[in-house]
Amino acid sequence: MKKATGVEQSQPLFRQVSDNILNRMERGEWRAHDKLPSIRLLAEEFKVHRLTVFKAYRVLTEDGKVYVKDKSGYYVSADSVSSEEVEDGVVSSYSLSNQLSDIHRMPAKYQFSQALIDPNLLPNIYLSDYVKKVFDMYPKVMGTYATVQGDDELRESLSQHYSEHHRLQLSSEELLITSGAQQAINLIAQMMLGPMDTVLIERPTYSVAMDIFRRQGARLIPVQITPEGYDLDEVETLMRTHKPRMFYMNPTHHNPTGYTVPAWQRKVLVELAERYHCLLVEDDPFRDIYFDEEPPLPLFAYDTEGWVVYISSFSKYVAPGLRICAVACRYPFMEQLIKAKSLADNGTPQLNQKIFLHYYTSPRLQRHLAKLRIALQVHKEIMEEELAKAGWEWTAPKGGLNLWVKLPGDITAEALFRKSITQSISFVPGEICDPLGESNSWIRLSFSFANEALLREGMQQLTALSRTL
Ligand SMILES: Cc1ncc(COP(=O)(O)O)c(C=O)c1O
Repeated sequence: MKKATGVEQSQPLFRQVSDNILNRMERGEWRAHDKLPSIRLLAEEFKVHRLTVFKAYRVLTEDGKVYVKDKSGYYVSADSVSSEEVEDGVVSSYSLSNQLSDIHRMPAKYQFSQALIDPNLLPNIYLSDYVKKVFDMYPKVMGTYATVQGDDELRESLSQHYSEHHRLQLSSEELLITSGAQQAINLIAQMMLGPMDTVLIERPTYSVAMDIFRRQGARLIPVQITPEGYDLDEVETLMRTHKPRMFYMNPTHHNPTGYTVPAWQRKVLVELAERYHCLLVEDDPFRDIYFDEEPPLPLFAYDTEGWVVYISSFSKYVAPGLRICAVACRYPFMEQLIKAKSLADNGTPQLNQKIFLHYYTSPRLQRHLAKLRIALQVHKEIMEEELAKAGWEWTAPKGGLNLWVKLPGDITAEALFRKSITQSISFVPGEICDPLGESNSWIRLSFSFANEALLREGMQQLTALSRTL
């Protein structure tokens, strides 16, 4: 397996400012021919020197994104506003907007882009049973608001489970139920980040998290993740020099690579977070999806000072549609998070929480997980067999739902995607997961959604297609 390169340097400041302006144009804050804020105003907003903003505007002008009117200022060019590109009848807006959701919207028979589990492998029958039971037990469940922090019984069961299984010492008061991990990341970003605040983020990473942080105007500094974890010297240097507000990480069966950060690094990372006052946002939806051995304890288990927020979503292996996720953190951070949650939606639907609770506390959950692990391992092995036949490179993960694959020769992910989507095969091009927008010879293939037959057939077609490029 090719060894990943070391940590990438962050982009120059003017580039981060120009990216921020571009992002805001793309999401419609400024439209074609709108006047952009003055250099002075932006320098104040970003807390940078005026020359930095001047340089950012100059780059945008040279790229045709912005034009200058004498004595009047900078304006948005008409052609800088994104449009969809159509080739062979295929809409490939993904390359313009870098949105994972754009890819998921494209219909595909061979679905390798969704990091979701085949619904046939999920416990739908039991969940529908529980819907009826929940209405019998709590006839007024729909008649009142849920509590903002989340159902008491559910938080109590979760805190017990966490202390028994993951050695997390926490009370139910230190748990908040959110509508999925995505909402948790969003709430934390809203609380913590303003324009030009710095966030350390793995490279590659879960692209939706990048979109959320960018929308807050944050500057992203990549930290390379490899099969061995991170370069901790580099992490320390970045924390010391950039004083990031947070490090967003997915250290267990990481999306998209499947890598797991070793236990010794987890302890050191918590020490670094304490020393440099950098919040570690530990996103952990794949912990229970392991193949042979359980992964190391969460970073949260080593934290005594409240520098880790632990996000544990149940979307992947119980039901993505229930939108149940638990966030663990200490006070006073929890107080702020509860306020943010109350403003967002005043509490995750009580019905969903109760249905989940009944499944979570039944012995069925552990039986389901035991079977699921075997089924997913079989899926992974089918995909790996086809990759091996084609001579593609990847590092076998110990859990999770994805393979991070290096394309052979000089094939680019974009070229392969354009072809494969016409054959109804989808995957995630690596650049979407890369904070630097590179990694274009890498792709993420999810082995969990397509059934075994489609998986083999689709992989054979995909590798055959690559030989025509
Ligand atoms: C690392 C990571 N975090 C969060 C999510 C979103 O989870 P949820 O469905 O709970 O919002 C995903 C989904 O793919 C993910 O891979």
